[in-house]
Amino acid sequence: MRLKDKVAIVTGSGAGIGRATAKFFANEGAKVICVDIDGDKAKEIADEISKEGKKSKPLELDVTDEKKVNEILSNLINDEVKIDILVNNAGITVTGSVEDLTIKEWDRQMDTNLRSIYLMSNNIWKHFKNNKGGIILNTASIASKIGIANDAAYCASKAAVEMLTRCMAKDGASDKIRVNCVCPGFVETPNIQGYFDAQPDPQAARDFAISLHPIGRMGKPEDIAKGFVFLASEDAEWITGSSLVIDGGLLTALP
Ligand SMILES: NC(=O)c1ccc[n+]([C@@H]2O[C@H](COP(=O)([O-])OP(=O)(O)OC[C@H]3O[C@@H](n4cnc5c(N)ncnc54)[C@H](O)[C@@H]3O)[C@@H](O)[C@H]2O)c1
Repeated sequence: MRLKDKVAIVTGSGAGIGRATAKFFANEGAKVICVDIDGDKAKEIADEISKEGKKSKPLELDVTDEKKVNEILSNLINDEVKIDILVNNAGITVTGSVEDLTIKEWDRQMDTNLRSIYLMSNNIWKHFKNNKGGIILNTASIASKIGIANDAAYCASKAAVEMLTRCMAKDGASDKIRVNCVCPGFVETPNIQGYFDAQPDPQAARDFAISLHPIGRMGKPEDIAKGFVFLASEDAEWITGSSLVIDGGLLTALP
């Protein structure tokens, strides 16, 4: 087991990539604190893990809520004594062209996908320093690297996540705080279904997305969870500031 006795916080673990990551971490021996804005979904995944005899606990938390994050994380740090891994995965997709997307929507996108990562990391940093190390993993995207039409705010947020990852890696290196991100291609989750549904022809959008992946299918949440397990494990002890692209070859073969 690659994460035996580690304690990991996984945000956005109520669905999709976060949910699979929580399960994979638990299977590797970690105790997983399942964070989600939707308390019922957090409880559902934590219960599922616990029923399998593994360690987990749910935590309802909106990662954009500064006051709550400060309060809840400081309580959690006291309760858990030692937290080893923080996975900043919660994210949303707010689509719209530059002409249509309002500043309010822009702010919502940035608050959820980017500011929350800084907020969570800022709160746990001293704890990691005191413990002489820790691991922060962020969910970026292939959208960190390419521009997508009608998706400016999302792409900008994810490009910034990748840069934030590098900067945090530099800040943390001398304190043994490793920081990396994953860049998924299109992954079958409720979020991506919402993205397709927002397109004029959802089925055509889905078919087009599949066609972008040379491997011939969209990703499964488990494909990304496996990358997170690797980056959280000792196998990645010399990896920091990196972006692990997990995209079925998408970035190699853009039309
Ligand atoms: N699905 C994809 O194709 C894809 C591709 C690249 C990157 N990503 C990124 O992966 C991450 C997970 O995406 P997903 O597709 O699994 O999404 P999802 O919508 O399936 O699951 C996201 C979970 O995050 C929770 N959440 C949303 N806002 C939150 C908040 N403010 N505080 C706490 N929890 C919150 C939701 O309740 C949900 O349970 C996101 O950062 C997303 O941008 C997804």
